[in-house]
Amino acid sequence: MPARPSILITRPLPGDALDLLRIQADVETWPERQAPPRAELLRLVAGRDGILVIGDRVNDELLDAAGPQLRGIAQYGVGYDNVDVAACTRRGAAVSNTPGVLSGTTAEIAWALILATARRVTEAERLVRAGGWGAAGFGALMGVDVGGATLGIVGMGRIGQEVARRALGFRMEVLYHQRRRLDPSIERELNATYVPFEALLERSDFVSVHAPATPETRHLMNAAAFARMKPGAILINTSRGTLVDQEALIAALDAGRLRAAGLDVTDPEPIAADHPLVGRDDVVVLPHIGSATHATRAKMTEMCVKNLLAALHGERMPWVVDPAVYDRP
Ligand code: DGY
Repeated sequence: MPARPSILITRPLPGDALDLLRIQADVETWPERQAPPRAELLRLVAGRDGILVIGDRVNDELLDAAGPQLRGIAQYGVGYDNVDVAACTRRGAAVSNTPGVLSGTTAEIAWALILATARRVTEAERLVRAGGWGAAGFGALMGVDVGGATLGIVGMGRIGQEVARRALGFRMEVLYHQRRRLDPSIERELNATYVPFEALLERSDFVSVHAPATPETRHLMNAAAFARMKPGAILINTSRGTLVDQEALIAALDAGRLRAAGLDVTDPEPIAADHPLVGRDDVVVLPHIGSATHATRAKMTEMCVKNLLAALHGERMPWVVDPAVYDRP
């Protein structure tokens, strides 16, 4: 390990695990909750041995600015579509993420959105705040039942499985689709049925998206997908905004094809308050809070610290994304 390695963290983080890092390294934390402006970030990464990023774009430009001593990049989150992993691997900088600890927490935000959209929770709450309860009267704000409905899960990884697990309590029929079928024992435990993507769209009352953002999944939920969905179905997205063609979503909602959408992620983020998706009664938009609980975020900090410490010691990061980085000559 270099005498006193230098680490940059691009936001203030919860949890006390950073104290461990500070014992062994000089740690600079960008003090604001908003990401550093790009030019500032490029200046700040120069000469660092490790960096901890939260969705900040890591590409050749940033790696050039950092310099050849950079050993590890810890992404705070399970998704790492912001990182050009191949570019990092080429330069011998290992990349890590924080899988597992946030699965249940993120599944719960998907569930919050399922219930909020089905029962028009945020719309109803806004009505009460605005003094509209009396005028709305009996029969207003009718929704749809969640219990007994069909839930289609696109991407049955850790988070998708936690969403399915919680659906057991709602006695839902759960369909899922992804490239590879799950082990039958997991299907039985989750009472989930593997179906082609088209069948999932046609049969589901709720479609919840949990696939990673890749070039292949960009606009997976597009006009053709919405046209196949059950009339009156609800779309939930807690993965990445790029998986949904937002213009096509607005068109499907306007046409009454979809009943509602619940989105914890948008493209871009943050989404502007005057964006056509925001302010609609049939769309609930959250500011990417899938993993935002005290306990989960503290665990994520701890995982990032373990990853960075390993990188600084020349050891394998426990949650390395591309192990090929360790096979380089
Ligand atoms: C993740 O873990 O990828 C969440 O979206 C937080 O970024």
